[in-house]
Amino acid sequence: MRILSGIQPTGEIHLGNYLGALKQWISLQNENECIFFVADLHSLTVPYNPKTLQKSIIEKVISYIAAGLDPEKVTIFVQSHIKEHTELAWLLNTICPLSELERMTQYKDKAKKFKSNINAGLLDYPVLMASDILLYKSEGVPVGRDQTQHVELARTLARKFNQKFGKTFVEPKDILPKQGAKIMSLTDPKKKMSKTDSSQSYISLFEDPESIKKKIMSATTDSGKGIKFDPIKKPGISNLLTIYSLLSDKPIKEVEKAFKGEGYAALKKSLADLVIEFLEPFRKKQKEMAQREVYIKEILTRGKDKAQRIAEITLQEVKEKMGLI
Ligand code: ADP
Ligand code: TRP
Repeated sequence: MRILSGIQPTGEIHLGNYLGALKQWISLQNENECIFFVADLHSLTVPYNPKTLQKSIIEKVISYIAAGLDPEKVTIFVQSHIKEHTELAWLLNTICPLSELERMTQYKDKAKKFKSNINAGLLDYPVLMASDILLYKSEGVPVGRDQTQHVELARTLARKFNQKFGKTFVEPKDILPKQGAKIMSLTDPKKKMSKTDSSQSYISLFEDPESIKKKIMSATTDSGKGIKFDPIKKPGISNLLTIYSLLSDKPIKEVEKAFKGEGYAALKKSLADLVIEFLEPFRKKQKEMAQREVYIKEILTRGKDKAQRIAEITLQEVKEKMGLI
C-alpha cells in the first residue's frame, strides 16, 4: 500500500502526535511504500514566527527519525519544496463545495481560537491536505482522530473528480490506532492534547525527566477517587490510564487492577516513571541527530527528488483531464 502523512512544523511533537500518528507511521514503514512530509504550508494559516520556521522544519525531520522512522526505508520531504501541492490544491478548489469547508470542525475551532486571523487559507486548509494526499495517489493515511474529517473530504474530492473527469485518483482511507487516536490535554482532559496550547498541557517527545514528572504530577484529575476507566465521568484519570496502557503495552483493565485501592498520586508517580523511561531513547537519538545537519539535508534532497517525480506525473495527468493541456 502507498501510505502518506504529515505533521505541521510549528510547536513541539508531543505524546498525542506520537500515539495518534507517528507510532503508526513507524509500524507501517516495513511493509508499505511510505511517504512522510513536514506540512509547512499548512502551518502558515495560524500565527507563526517566520524567523524560526526553518529551524522548526528541520527539528521535525529530526523528530521523525528520533521517534523511529528509517530514512533508508521511507521518503521524507518538506511540503513547500514540491510546488505541485499548491497547484493541485487550486485545481481541487474548483470542485470543492464551500459548504464542505465551512462545516469542518477544525476550521470552526481555529476560527474561534484565532479570531483576529481568520484567513482564507484557514478555510482552504482541508483542500491543500486533500491535494497532499491525492497527488501521490495514497491509499492509507495514518492520522489521529482530529484529522479523519479531512481525509474524508480527500476521499469525496477524489470520487467527484473521477466522476467528472474520468478515473484519476485513488480514494484514500484513514488509518487510526485502535487506542490513542485522541490523547487528551493534561490540563484540560476534555480537550485534545495540542501543540498550540500551553506547554503545561502536553509532554514533548524530547522533554527532560524533571519536567515530565512535574507535568504528570500536576495533571488535572477528577473529583472523587478510584482508578477507573470512564472517559465521561473521569476524563482525567481515563486519559492517564490510556497513556499508561499504550506505553506499557498492557490492557487498560490490567492497569486498573494493578492500581486497585490506590490513590491518584500513585498512578501519576508510576506513569511519570514510565514516560521518562519510555522517552529516554528518543531523547538520546534526537541529540545525536541534531549534530548531523548535513545528513538531514541530504535526506530531504533525496526525498524531494523522489516525491517530485510522482507529483509531476499526477499533475500532468490531472491538467490533461481538466482540459488544460
Ligand atoms: P497539533 O494538533 O498538536 O498541532 P498536528 O495537527 O500537527 O498536531 O497533528 C499531527 C498528527 O498528530 C495528526 O495525525 C493528528 O491527528 C495527530 N494528533 C494530534 N493531536 C493528537 C492527540 N491529542 N491525540 C492523538 N493524535 C493526535
Ligand atoms: N492537517 C494535518 C494535521 O494538522 C497535517 C497534514 C497536512 C496531513 N497534510 C496532510 C496529514 C496529509 C495527513 C495527510 O495534523
